[in-house]
Amino acid sequence: MVAIASDHAGFHFKENVKMLLEERGIEYKDFGAHTDERSDYPDFAHTASESVSRGECERGIFICGTGIGVGIVANKHIGVRAAMCQIPEAARLSRLHNNANVLTIGERLIDWETAREIIELFLDTKFEGGRHVTRVEKIHTLTSL
Ligand code: RB5
Repeated sequence: MVAIASDHAGFHFKENVKMLLEERGIEYKDFGAHTDERSDYPDFAHTASESVSRGECERGIFICGTGIGVGIVANKHIGVRAAMCQIPEAARLSRLHNNANVLTIGERLIDWETAREIIELFLDTKFEGGRHVTRVEKIHTLTSL
């Protein structure tokens, strides 16, 4: 199950993401926004992040104008590793090396073709494991919270 969320600025990409996931037969839960009327990205990113943190959703794809705001919110949640990606190679490496479980993208920064490529790499690339396991574990054990 993939959690998807956006604010107004990411709404159109979010609707495209739903179509992409449907094409691929992947289940998703849409945490809003449900229109492109002005809204506050933390309202949607927090609830969607909670679903990833609790393990109800294995992955998340969150979108705002830049991908930055939703990413900041997501990374406050225990167990969430959100990667803001603007180029496909970043999405590939976020899976290979960081085992990212949330992808954040900015609808105002990249076109849909690029976003689609980023999303497909995020969905299709497996964590490399090996030397990266300890590093990823340290993300969650060494915290100042
Ligand atoms: C909304 O105008 C915009 O600030 C928001 O979508 C996001 O880019 C924040 O990080």
